[in-house]
Amino acid sequence: MEDDSIGTRIVGAARSLPELVVTNDDLAALVETSDEWIHTRSGIRTRHISRGESVSTLASDVFRKLVSGAGYDPDDIDLLILATVTPEYLTPSSATFVLRETGAKNAFAFDINAACTGFVYAVSVADKMLRSGLYKKAIVIAGDTLSKFVDWTDRATCVLFADGAGGVLMEACDGAPCILAEDLHTDGSYAMSLRAAKLPIKNPWYEDPGPEEPYVIMDGKAIYDFVVTEIPKSVRAILEKAAMTIDDIKYVICHQANSRIIEGVAKKLKTGIDKFYISISRYGNTSASSMPIALSEMMEKGLVHKGDRIIISGFGAGLTWGSLLVQF
Ligand code: ACO
Repeated sequence: MEDDSIGTRIVGAARSLPELVVTNDDLAALVETSDEWIHTRSGIRTRHISRGESVSTLASDVFRKLVSGAGYDPDDIDLLILATVTPEYLTPSSATFVLRETGAKNAFAFDINAACTGFVYAVSVADKMLRSGLYKKAIVIAGDTLSKFVDWTDRATCVLFADGAGGVLMEACDGAPCILAEDLHTDGSYAMSLRAAKLPIKNPWYEDPGPEEPYVIMDGKAIYDFVVTEIPKSVRAILEKAAMTIDDIKYVICHQANSRIIEGVAKKLKTGIDKFYISISRYGNTSASSMPIALSEMMEKGLVHKGDRIIISGFGAGLTWGSLLVQF
């Protein structure tokens, strides 16, 4: 139950990337592709790929940066939500490993799986929990090492996906909620359009007949068309709910899957591409973490000020998608 007297705010953002930077030319040495094809079709120039960094090591780094950035102690955090589709183990959650690595004792923690929309869903969930009055400080992190589910001989996917983590510190406060409007969706009829790492049933009485599907399988064109239609609708829906227009919004942060998708969304919303923060050239598609990675860069550059309104829109496997209108 939400308490209307309790507000929320996003206090800080942070990111963590694996050390190794892989260029398009590095990929052209692995599969038949080129810097020109990858950059023209996706906007990507470089990406970070894990050489041992895991979701929980990257997310722990984000957790520490958020806590120290706010002058807090790990034990001050009441709640940790980690959005990931590439945990180290199916159980326990990667969020529990973050508590283990950071020594945070007072938080309860869980993972959510909503693919590249995970950050949007997780911020929405944290906002409601803070507004319940039961918790004061929440950390929401999105992190993925998609490189472990990529078929590195498949040029259609290996040039797109990458590794990274980003997150935000959220607090309960007096006043208004930081989410002024939200619009969240899942369409299960598209469940097979983007999938990875099938976990087949195998026991003494049954063995899944296959096929084995260990890697990302994606109908790229279908997703492209879906997203360029649905994300502008979602953005319009939250603007309508908040009785605002796109001119009231300082920036839109879209999931960074493809710069052409973002250009398509801007065109449909009849607004300049300058309103969209684009970081895909440096990071590739880092799944749900692409949005908090972008936000942390924007905050570092001094682009976000108190009172600014930003739209965060995500989309991914499920298909899941949704938008938040956030006031800073
Ligand atoms: N290098 C060179 N050529 C390639 C490569 C490559 N890396 N990959 C594909 N090609 C070839 C194809 O084989 C095809 O050749 P053909 O015409 O001889 O058959 C040609 O390039 C065109 O391929 P398309 O798939 O039609 O290329 P398109 O312009 O549609 O771009 C892309 C493909 C980049 C995948 C695009 O469809 C896209 O971005 N879709 C959205 C995907 C997405 O957003 N996925 C993630 C969303 S959720 C999440 O982030 C987890």
